[in-house]
Amino acid sequence: MATLKEKRTCGQRCEDFGHFVWNSDNGTFMGRTPEKWVYISLYYVAFYVVMTALFSLAIWTLMYTLDPYAPDYTDRLKSPGVMVWPDTYGEEIVEIKYNTSDKLSWTKMPEILHKFLKPYNDTKQLECNNHNCTRGKYFIQKTFSAPNHTKWACPFTQSMLGACSGLEDPTFGYNSSRPCVVIKMNRIINFYPTNHTDISPYVNCTILEGHDNVENIEYFPDKGIMDLSYFPYYGKLAQPTYVNPLVAVRFSLVREKKAKLQCRVVANKITFEHYHDPYEGKVIFQLQSVK
Ligand SMILES: *[C@@H]1O[C@H](CO)[C@@H](O)[C@H](O)[C@H]1NC(C)=O
Ligand SMILES: *[C@@H]1O[C@H](CO)[C@@H](O)[C@H](O)[C@H]1NC(C)=O
Ligand SMILES: *[C@@H]1O[C@H](CO)[C@@H](O)[C@H](O)[C@H]1NC(C)=O
Ligand SMILES: *[C@@H]1O[C@H](CO)[C@@H](O)[C@H](O)[C@H]1NC(C)=O
Ligand SMILES: *[C@@H]1O[C@H](CO)[C@@H](O)[C@H](O)[C@H]1NC(C)=O
Ligand SMILES: *[C@@H]1O[C@H](CO)[C@@H](O)[C@H](O)[C@H]1NC(C)=O
Ligand SMILES: *[C@@H]1O[C@H](CO)[C@@H](O)[C@H](O)[C@H]1NC(C)=O
Repeated sequence: MATLKEKRTCGQRCEDFGHFVWNSDNGTFMGRTPEKWVYISLYYVAFYVVMTALFSLAIWTLMYTLDPYAPDYTDRLKSPGVMVWPDTYGEEIVEIKYNTSDKLSWTKMPEILHKFLKPYNDTKQLECNNHNCTRGKYFIQKTFSAPNHTKWACPFTQSMLGACSGLEDPTFGYNSSRPCVVIKMNRIINFYPTNHTDISPYVNCTILEGHDNVENIEYFPDKGIMDLSYFPYYGKLAQPTYVNPLVAVRFSLVREKKAKLQCRVVANKITFEHYHDPYEGKVIFQLQSVK
């Protein structure tokens, strides 16, 4: 049987295609009149211009509302948490328990403290935070005047912790019954711990259990002060060399040498009675020295 379809020669096909590209009968180019092509082109140009404009507007709005130096949502944290070092957890709370006659047991504590205090090394602090801060005043910085478009941070050196600095006594008192602990308050961006412009927050430790077993409580720096010049904190990008101010507390344990303690950072914007957050504004820990 012969094929029903008529076979077209190559020449005919080329001719067809030529007709499609330019049809002189009705003056169309690729099936449309040049006039139509102009309209189509104009339509697409307009379409892409509008799309680009919308997209640019969206990006611009996003960039405009974003502060590159602060995270967007900081309002979840209203009041900072407080922590204690050595951070040796017991079943629930931090339990700092050591045996002065067992070197392996007590050396763990000064090791943790030395490691924790590494960023506070005097030489290191005076190198990266060599700004002269005015004590007792908020260090408010509107401009980025520190190197590399950042803000200054006040130095906090290990030696400010005096007898608890680990410099004179590398054991931090853990070879005896006068151990030191270090209190640190978490940083919150743009947080002002008090609405007074000249009263610094301070650490106050109280004995919850074992009153008879604690003879004396000493604070370093003096009065347990966290100087106002360390506030506010502007964020990691704006203040890359920032270090939290610390307060070391030395407890002189007597008799049973066991006590449950609470250290609170006192300032009128720092709350400490949040039901769901036991670490808000304060930290509770057990301290015990055995022989
Ligand atoms: C403290 O360590 C010493 C020496 O290892 C040991 O004899 C003593 O029983 C330990 N004390 C306690 C309360 O575990
Ligand atoms: C502090 O750092 C310097 C230089 O890196 C070092 O020599 C010194 O031992 C460090 N001090 C302490 C207490 O770690
Ligand atoms: C800070 O003050 C001390 C003494 O007033 C001065 O020797 C030092 O150069 C000052 N440092 C800076 C970075 O201004
Ligand atoms: C500034 O940034 C450059 C490159 O990141 C770095 O090499 C330099 O040490 C920085 N300068 C200061 C003072 O931090
Ligand atoms: C604990 O160590 C310090 C510093 O090494 C030392 O001065 C002190 O006498 C020691 N205390 C005891 C009770 O061994
Ligand atoms: C600080 O705030 C408290 C209550 O939030 C207010 O009673 C007090 O007057 C304020 N003090 C100053 C100096 O603004
Ligand atoms: C520390 O707290 C205790 C108990 O709340 C209080 O009696 C004492 O006055 C406080 N000390 C300071 C210096 O605020």
